[in-house]
Amino acid sequence: MLPRSQALGVVCLLLAVLLGPHTTTAQDDVVTDCSLSTSMALELDKFAGIWWEVARLPSTTYFCTEVNFTVLDQPNDNVLIDTTYGVSPDYPWVNQTMNATLTVQNMTEAPDGYNFTYWNPPNYSPYTVFKVLFTDYTDFAFICGYTNATDNSTSFGVVLTRDRTPSADTLNQLEGNASAKYPFNFLNGTMSAITQGPTCYAPSSGNPLTMISVFLLAVTGLLWLVDARH
Ligand SMILES: *[C@@H]1O[C@H](CO)[C@@H](O)[C@H](O)[C@H]1NC(C)=O
Ligand SMILES: *[C@@H]1O[C@H](CO)[C@@H](O)[C@H](O)[C@H]1NC(C)=O
Ligand SMILES: *[C@@H]1O[C@H](CO)[C@@H](O)[C@H](O)[C@H]1NC(C)=O
Ligand SMILES: *[C@@H]1O[C@H](CO)[C@@H](O)[C@H](O)[C@H]1NC(C)=O
Ligand SMILES: *[C@@H]1O[C@H](CO)[C@@H](O)[C@H](O)[C@H]1NC(C)=O
Ligand SMILES: *[C@@H]1O[C@H](CO)[C@@H](O)[C@H](O)[C@H]1NC(C)=O
Ligand SMILES: *[C@@H]1O[C@H](CO)[C@@H](O)[C@H](O)[C@H]1NC(C)=O
Ligand SMILES: *[C@@H]1O[C@H](CO)[C@@H](O)[C@H](O)[C@H]1NC(C)=O
Ligand SMILES: *[C@@H]1O[C@H](CO)[C@@H](O)[C@H](O)[C@H]1NC(C)=O
Repeated sequence: MLPRSQALGVVCLLLAVLLGPHTTTAQDDVVTDCSLSTSMALELDKFAGIWWEVARLPSTTYFCTEVNFTVLDQPNDNVLIDTTYGVSPDYPWVNQTMNATLTVQNMTEAPDGYNFTYWNPPNYSPYTVFKVLFTDYTDFAFICGYTNATDNSTSFGVVLTRDRTPSADTLNQLEGNASAKYPFNFLNGTMSAITQGPTCYAPSSGNPLTMISVFLLAVTGLLWLVDARH
């Protein structure tokens, strides 16, 4: 077996690979036009708080995603966004948080949306654009944007809700309503629902530590095998 420190190094390396940049799948049949829309005038205090990402188009590898929107008492960089997401479908209870600060004028429309970058340790993500198309503040928000601020083919539409696990009926209604109002960003019946719920907090069997130990054993076992073949 490898010395423990070396084995840990290997695991860290593998985790770094697993945690690597999220990729977006381009989807040809998605109408990509978020540029036609304006970000609505937001009442910041009402928009603040926790939102859950429940549907997205096109689908990505993000899941169990929480958005924590905080208004800071300062004129610039007055909004702090903490976005927490699951790192791997195999370990949905292990999450990572990326954060961003940006300037959002209270009660003011933003035709071009918000262009900002996330600190997603250990790197900044590419500049991304968000537009809040519509929200009722209490239940849902429809958002479109570009994952790459300078490439309009990377557009996406997202439904956020205050309730982490809305019913299938509510989800379908939200998707239908979003597509009826914003046909350029949401296509009815095509959004992928995003994993949310109890599996985001705890493994169904075992705990993270035992899982990591099993993983570690598997990795060291494999290396040992490879080594033994020489
Ligand atoms: C949201 O972020 C704010 C500011 O960092 C923090 O005070 C608050 O505890 C966070 N809320 C949750 C539920 O994580
Ligand atoms: C992130 O993981 C921690 C530790 O498991 C957990 O307490 C927290 O609720 C998780 N956050 C989300 C948004 O799932
Ligand atoms: C993200 O959070 C870290 C730690 O709280 C902080 O040092 C950093 O300034 C934040 N980055 C942004 C872009 O807000
Ligand atoms: C935003 O405007 C609303 C309505 O005028 C006001 O009640 C609220 O205090 C303002 N919030 C901030 C953060 O300026
Ligand atoms: C977004 O902001 C960055 C940094 O300020 C800038 O380089 C980039 O041109 C902006 N992109 C768009 C589409 O506005
Ligand atoms: C963003 O899009 C621009 C223009 O297509 C491209 O040059 C740049 O490499 C892209 N950035 C990333 C991080 O994909
Ligand atoms: C997307 O970008 C391309 C190249 O910059 C441009 O020709 C096209 O008009 C843009 N489309 C929209 C909908 O903004
Ligand atoms: C969808 O829109 C209809 C009509 O405006 C509304 O009655 C219904 O409550 C909306 N559904 C949701 C889940 O917001
Ligand atoms: C969206 O699709 C559902 C299920 O196919 C349908 O019942 C609903 O009427 C559609 N809504 C819109 C706005 O087209």
